[in-house]
Formats: sequence, C-alpha cells, structure tokens
Amino acid sequence: MTDLDIRPIAGALGAELYGVDLSETLDDAAFAAVRQALHDHLVIFFRDQTFTPEQHLAFARRFGDIETHRYAKGLPSHPEILPVVKEAEDRAANFGGIWHSDVSFHEEPPMGQILYALDIPESGGDTIFVNMYRAYEALSDGMKRLLEGRKAIHTGERSYGPTDSEVTRRLDKFSRSMDVKMKDDAEAEVAHPVVRTHPETGRKSLYISAISIQRLEGMTHAESRPILDHLIAHAQRPEFTCRFRWRKHSVAFWDNRCTQHYALNDYHGQRREMHRVTVAGERPV
Ligand code: SIN
Repeated sequence: MTDLDIRPIAGALGAELYGVDLSETLDDAAFAAVRQALHDHLVIFFRDQTFTPEQHLAFARRFGDIETHRYAKGLPSHPEILPVVKEAEDRAANFGGIWHSDVSFHEEPPMGQILYALDIPESGGDTIFVNMYRAYEALSDGMKRLLEGRKAIHTGERSYGPTDSEVTRRLDKFSRSMDVKMKDDAEAEVAHPVVRTHPETGRKSLYISAISIQRLEGMTHAESRPILDHLIAHAQRPEFTCRFRWRKHSVAFWDNRCTQHYALNDYHGQRREMHRVTVAGERPV
C-alpha cells in the first residue's frame, strides 16, 4: 500500500493511520504496511471506521488466531467479541482502569487487542499507553544486569481470582456493566521473563504488568517488592506514554507484548462502550 498516511501522536509511541478501510479485506501490501506501522509505533489508531462484528473479527484474523476472554462474557452473537462497557449510572471502577498488559498471567498472553469505540463520553474516557521498549532501554546498566535472565511470577488473583481480599469491591465493580466471573484458575502462578524479546522486532522490552506481577522468581515478596515497585513506577514515566482521545468509530490496535495501557475512569454519569477482539500470542521469551 503506498497511500497509508501515518501521523505519530506522541514522541514515545502511537500513530494515527489514514488511508485504510478496516471493513475491507486488506490485501497483502496493505496488511504488511499496517503490521509494519504496528511494529514501528506499538499502538496504531484509525478514525471514522464503520464495520460489522464479522469485519472486526476478519481484520483481527489477519494478525493471528482469535482468543475468547476466559472471565468476561462476550457478545451473545459473537462470543469472541468482548463488550467493554461502563454505564452512565455505574460509579464503580472501570474495566482496564489500572496499568496493565492484558492477561500477563496467562501462559501465552495475547499478541494484541483491537478495540472499537461505539459510544464515547463527551469528555473523558481516554486511554493511555506506554512504550515498554523505552522503559527497558532507560534502565541503568546495573538494573539491566540484575534483571537479565530473571523471571517474575504473575497471577490473575487481583483481577479475576475469587479469594482475593478485594473480592467484594471487584464483584461490585464489574457486576453492573459487564458480565465477569471470578474463577479459581485465575490464581495459578505463571513465570515470565522480566525482560522479554519481541518475536517479530527482536527488541527487548520490560515485561511487567502492575496488576498481575507478584514477585521475582526465587525471591520473597519482601525482597522483590522494592524492585517491582521501582520498575512499575519507572514504566509510568510520562515521556514513555501517549494518550488517545477517542471518538465514536475510532479503533486502537495495540501490541500487548511491548506496551501497557490504562483506561481512564473520569467520565462518571456518561456511558462508554467499546468492542474488543483479542489476537492470540505466544509464550514470552
Ligand atoms: C482494556 O484494558 O482493554 C480496556 C481499554 C479501554 O477501555 O480503553
């Protein structure tokens, strides 16, 4: 594709792409250009797209297999599409309103997400993304050496586990706008490298997800916590981020392997509805 117009929205990551209609099947050249833009900018955005659930799924399938959410219920007609909804009267926490890389507690966390905006508040409801390559590269040589070859333990306990101490708050949080089930298997521990190498770009990124990371493998919680707290705070530095202002029919496609994101919950009294399709990933190395 020669007429793809790529407009970066921040210094660290994120670009709006114009000249592509996601309701159409991408030919090989268009697909290659979009995939390259994703590798270059980590999260890519499209404006004024109108597509059906089938077209949403078809676009996602160009990038890999589709994964259905294990804990949150999809659309009755298309279970692979997750409605991410917060109703106007829902004043609780929102889905995704914390720094995270999606379901990092899975053995094979997603490659990416394609999020389509259907109903957007007049103000608020932006999403912030962070470039985890930059977060890794900005660490001192000493910290890079400390993390080299080290794994961290992730669990879904705080997000979807039934025995977490925050369970009442979390059930309350999700029960009003979304159909989320807390399950025991979310508490299983999974070890992933703290520094992962992207399977397509070959670049190293910091792989932590504030909500899921528990401790460094082979170390106690108390020993790990100061290091993890430092890494979590470091990865939120504003200069590593971009912030996307949604409009109805905007689309965001993020590479979940080298970014984290945070859905702002600053629009109480207004409704927000998105449709999310997950592209399956691989075991981080
Ligand atoms: C998510 O974490 O997938 C939700 C992001 C958003 O709603 O902006």
